[in-house]
Amino acid sequence: MTDDTQFDPEASLARSTARSLEIEAQIEKDPGEFRILTGDRPTGNLHIGHLFGSLENRVRLADAGIDTFVLIADYQVITDRDGVGPIRERVYSLLMDYLAIGLDPDQVTIFTHSSIPELNQLMLPFLSLATDAELRRNPTVKAELDDTQGRPMSGLLLTYPVHQAADILFCKANLVPVGRDQLPHLEQARVLARRFDERYGRADDAAPVFPQPEALLSGSGTVLGLDGTKMSKSKGNTIELGFTADETAKLIKRAVTDADRHITYDPANRPEVSNLVNIAALATGQNPVAVADGLGDAGGGGLKKLVTDSLNEYLAPMRARRAELAADPAYLSQVLADGNSRAREIAVQTLDEVRTAMQMVY
Ligand code: TRP
Repeated sequence: MTDDTQFDPEASLARSTARSLEIEAQIEKDPGEFRILTGDRPTGNLHIGHLFGSLENRVRLADAGIDTFVLIADYQVITDRDGVGPIRERVYSLLMDYLAIGLDPDQVTIFTHSSIPELNQLMLPFLSLATDAELRRNPTVKAELDDTQGRPMSGLLLTYPVHQAADILFCKANLVPVGRDQLPHLEQARVLARRFDERYGRADDAAPVFPQPEALLSGSGTVLGLDGTKMSKSKGNTIELGFTADETAKLIKRAVTDADRHITYDPANRPEVSNLVNIAALATGQNPVAVADGLGDAGGGGLKKLVTDSLNEYLAPMRARRAELAADPAYLSQVLADGNSRAREIAVQTLDEVRTAMQMVY
């Protein structure tokens, strides 16, 4: 392949950051220009890191009037692990989280990978447009391989950026709200869209089959775990959306702080304290410096009390809604069936266009 991609992380981040600001302005003017696809692997329950980092942003964008697709990426679960675990339960748990935080199924299409054969079939032509060298260089693939402690790379782990491109392109999404770690994937999707167009051409003034999807970087910083390190279920430092108020209080009691009773917001020098201040700020809609000033000499105890109370208050309606949803499995399967049927209709249409471009309609 002639234009084998070399991903340059810094250039890509700078470009995407600048472009994200322009896109936000455009969304205010004309949300109908955009279609969003985003998603999560159903590997465990969502926590406040997801909530403040990505979920609330999705609700905001869907509420702004953008046609939004949210993928429960069940097939992607097997990229770096041997089995699927209690997948059914996890898919429904993710769905409950989505609905509880305010994604409205009348506005947002929520669907599962494994239910959309035509999406998965796009893998085949797309795989022919990617080189093994560029996939091996993909920083996210590398990072995931490193995380699996010597596990050999499976064919699916190597090619999952191609699968992810199919996720984005099957519905012709032109906007993908992502964290910076996902930028290489987006670059790959853009390259595949372009190569498909170059290889299979089109009638003179027809539009390409696939748009060039762009990243929308979310502005809010990362929420760390209660010990000040990266939030991760296996470290027990997360607060899941499904936890009770008591469980939340107990966990925050064990959070790491420091000996200085005067509370400040100083992420570089006091990461643990500042992270708690930030959580309280997000939960109360204030700025972190104002939260720290308000606490003054309240010490770690005062800080934890504020985090507990404000977070529990903030999460209470979501938790109540989640409990209602858990009691109504028939509604949940209906939401998923509707989402899958809408996604599938679009996937069938796109695959048709692809096969037409490839002259494979018989
Ligand atoms: N990789 C994402 C995650 O691990 C999930 C995902 C799958 C996704 N396909 C996607 C995200 C397409 C954005 C676009 O959570």
